[in-house]
Amino acid sequence: MREDFKNGPAIEVRNLRKEYIMGTERVVALKNVNLTINRGEICCIFGTSGSGKSTLLNQLAALEKPTRGGVKIGGVLISAMNENQLATFRQRHLGFVFQAYNLLSELTAVENVALPLVFRGMSKESRELEAKKMLIKVGLKDRFHHFPGQMSGGQQQRVGIARAFIARPEVVFADEPTGNLDSKTTKEVMAMIKDFARKFNQTIVLVSHDPEMTEYADRVITLIDGEIVSDVCKNHIDKTGDNIKNE
Ligand SMILES: Nc1ncnc2c1ncn2[C@@H]1O[C@H](COP(=O)(O)OP(=O)(O)OP(=O)(O)O)[C@@H](O)[C@H]1O
Ligand SMILES: [Mg+2]
Repeated sequence: MREDFKNGPAIEVRNLRKEYIMGTERVVALKNVNLTINRGEICCIFGTSGSGKSTLLNQLAALEKPTRGGVKIGGVLISAMNENQLATFRQRHLGFVFQAYNLLSELTAVENVALPLVFRGMSKESRELEAKKMLIKVGLKDRFHHFPGQMSGGQQQRVGIARAFIARPEVVFADEPTGNLDSKTTKEVMAMIKDFARKFNQTIVLVSHDPEMTEYADRVITLIDGEIVSDVCKNHIDKTGDNIKNE
């Protein structure tokens, strides 16, 4: 199977349906979603609580298997991959930023940020050097050896961003990345995400219920009850053909 992210748009979703079975009850979280996300687009999936945003993100990022339909990332049909293939694909091509930061509490900032490089076959020394460069970029040059519990929420999320972007993944998924942050820190964190994405032609899929977050997006896709009810493009972005690894 090809795993090279060379073909097509960043993400293509066809006839996607997701049902959860709870005892005798069936919850239809996504009904029939069709969607194409261009390379380099900063795309916000917007909707109220329970509209299916996280479910959609989990299918796009191959964190869950769809009930029906397919998801392609960079031309690769990820919904047909097994767990091992998916794990490798995620390590090579995808980055994640979570609302709850999801840092490893027993690792320092540098060690957390260096983690995605473990799979790139780099020495520990060069991984940590790269991690330090990233931490400097997110304004944490004085926090290299702090553990997550010794940092503020905003600082932890900056570590999270440094970790998500360090391996230059083609697509970064962010589920309510500023959900626990104040408005000033939210602006700083979003500016960082946007900056990295533009610099390296990365595609961002951002999930939020907060109308303010839509301001950072090139495109806003609104979900109601598991269906796309509007799809508004503010800036047309399509970086197909650009070499995303070029600095
Ligand atoms: N694992 C699960 N099992 C059963 N039902 C689920 C599961 N995950 C989500 N759901 C249901 O699917 C629907 C969509 O949930 P989802 O988490 O995608 O919403 P959301 O838009 O992300 O909401 P929020 O803004 O509160 O995070 C909800 O009705 C929810 O109860
Ligand atoms: Mg959610």
